[in-house]
Amino acid sequence: MLDIKIEGGTVIDGTGAPGARADVGLVGDTITAIGDLARERAGRTIGAAGLTVTPGFIDIHSHSDWRLWANRRAESKIRQGVTTEVVGNCGFSPAPVSDEFREEMKGFALYLPPGMDFSWRSMGEYLRRYEEGGVALNVVQLMGHGTLRLAAMGFARRAPSARELATMERLADEAMAQGAAGLATGLIYAPGSYATTEEIVAVARRVAACGGFYASHIRGEGATLLDAVSEAIRVGREGGLPVQVSHIKAAGRPNWGKVKDALALIDAARAEGLDVMADVYPYTASSTTLRTLLPDWVLEGGIDAMLERLRDPAVCARVRAEITGGGETLMRGLGWEDIMVAYAPSRPEAQGRRLSDIAAGWQLDPLDACIDLILAEKGKGYMILFQLDEADLRRALAHPCVMIGSDGSSLAAHGELAAGKPHPRSYGTFPRVLARYVREQQVLTLETAVRKMTALPAARLGLADRGVLRVGAKADVVLLDPERVADLATYEDPHQYARGIEGVLVNGRVVVDGGEHTGALPGQVLRKS
Ligand code: ZN
Ligand code: CU
Repeated sequence: MLDIKIEGGTVIDGTGAPGARADVGLVGDTITAIGDLARERAGRTIGAAGLTVTPGFIDIHSHSDWRLWANRRAESKIRQGVTTEVVGNCGFSPAPVSDEFREEMKGFALYLPPGMDFSWRSMGEYLRRYEEGGVALNVVQLMGHGTLRLAAMGFARRAPSARELATMERLADEAMAQGAAGLATGLIYAPGSYATTEEIVAVARRVAACGGFYASHIRGEGATLLDAVSEAIRVGREGGLPVQVSHIKAAGRPNWGKVKDALALIDAARAEGLDVMADVYPYTASSTTLRTLLPDWVLEGGIDAMLERLRDPAVCARVRAEITGGGETLMRGLGWEDIMVAYAPSRPEAQGRRLSDIAAGWQLDPLDACIDLILAEKGKGYMILFQLDEADLRRALAHPCVMIGSDGSSLAAHGELAAGKPHPRSYGTFPRVLARYVREQQVLTLETAVRKMTALPAARLGLADRGVLRVGAKADVVLLDPERVADLATYEDPHQYARGIEGVLVNGRVVVDGGEHTGALPGQVLRKS
């Protein structure tokens, strides 16, 4: 007797194999039968005629660790078919925290929902506290190198002392033992950007000893892209661990076309025997904090020190000279009209508009308008940068070692989580790949796209029992309509759930039923064992 029978769908198992008509039977949280199950009785039968049945999607690059605290239902992600989110990316995770630098950590956090008070220290303590509230989908936690560095030495802009490095190594050992899946750097973000390659290699070796992997928002995604990819590969070679190049891209028009060269570096590393892969989101705009436009020395000492500094006209003049002088900042190759303010709740009139336009309205120079917003939001304001090339994106999507990751968060189209004009990737990533790049443009087949959302990230994470539909695997399952599935979120109107994701099961329990959220919270923290 089955608990649930999914009947009459086309099963795409995640391995890349062609889809085939089959029923799927579950008992508890496990798939126990696949095939013709017409004779099997079940507690509930879910009709899947005309639908495609796939493994639950694994979002290999997410920032939901902050938002899930206030969004246990994981609305915008679960409605895309995401059943596991990998969080702690780009150098930020909410743990570990040290007593000495707890306040700095609160300033560093981008979003502080109720409950996220940093009263924990270790990763283990954090994950226990987090898990108490329940969550709709599964979570894999990475430890952020920026967080680790902050806990050991605050926002100091220098190499760690021997003692500080030893602290980082000890914290890394501890976090890995308590369930972290690996290490994530954000090498354009202070304080992570203050680290040398040697420092990262030292921490990576400890992570390697526990079987973890290294994910990196690399040190440059524009003019220095290839050096930055090489640095990530070097960490893998010298640290002895797998490498995941996060959200691969070539930013800024002068750099368009370089994704091909970045992928060639990855291919060469793989030919050398290194395990290097990448992920990508299906959009030609990126998104990050407004403060990232500034040179990283502005953040020395932390957020309060930054805000203090930005009130000094001499500092602003120096920032201007670096940005307009073609220095290696995020602005290189970009114009103010390419930057849209996404989230600045204290200046709602700015949200959804370009910085050039906002500045004209305020009768300010665009950089001054930008600094105004950074100050008003205490460094937590967000922007969207229209700076990527469609051909680069297609090339990344088609590469066999590139998987899909949203770089977004679980949001919700109601209440506080619907604030501002965030990047639509938080609502649309996975359906957009299936609609635009599979159905419309045929950049990849449906089976290949599903593999990039399931078995490929599962392999990267070492999740032996997820990411495929087979007997014995955990029952994370998506029912989707391949003709209807589509993203509806746009830059102008981002808080729109995707269409055509008809059913989602997490650990054998139904979370999306007929396109609607059931309120079930069957997710788990998947600790590295
Ligand atoms: Zn990033
Ligand atoms: Cu990220």
